[in-house]
Amino acid sequence: MIDTVGRVLFTEEQIIKRARELGREIAEDYNGEPIYMVCTLRGAVVWMADMMKNIPNDVEIDFIMASSYGSGTISSGSVNIKKDLEGDISGKNVLIIEDIVDTGITLSHLKKHLEKKGPKSVKICTLLDKPSRRIADVKADYTGFSIDNLFVIGYGLDYDQKYRNLPYISYIEG
Ligand code: XMP
Ligand code: MG
Repeated sequence: MIDTVGRVLFTEEQIIKRARELGREIAEDYNGEPIYMVCTLRGAVVWMADMMKNIPNDVEIDFIMASSYGSGTISSGSVNIKKDLEGDISGKNVLIIEDIVDTGITLSHLKKHLEKKGPKSVKICTLLDKPSRRIADVKADYTGFSIDNLFVIGYGLDYDQKYRNLPYISYIEG
């Protein structure tokens, strides 16, 4: 079947400009303290690369992967960690880099998981937010763009593992 790809929602230029703005805000908020950036695999890798270049603090990076529940029915008990951090975050300022917050179920679980490891702080920086879909009580501290309820692709985000390499954000129509 051929997917119908919609119009461009955000260009690479817009995203890079936003990363620069948020990077400045983050640098100010952390007041020169080191930051331990945790990238959620796989969707957030492109956004993580943009964000890290715009934060002048000492930055360490690490990766985590949560299992995705299937499309359709959502059960809050079904999130688990498929790949955990490599490093020790105790006493550190953790900044989760996420691609998109939808229901928030994955992120609220991830945040709790990281908080158990004894970090100094845990904050969230997401490229996209779909606030109308929120179920879990979780809020990003830094948001690139808020969007309507569309299934977005590109800039790391996939549809059946395709389209992650698009240098812009679009959506699947249907
Ligand atoms: P929840 O609902 O737990 O889900 O906030 C977050 C995860 O679901 C995926 N997701 C999407 N992936 N386009 C995608 O490519 C979308 O529009 C979309 N909405 C949710 C994504 O993995 C995210 O981390
Ligand atoms: Mg994701």
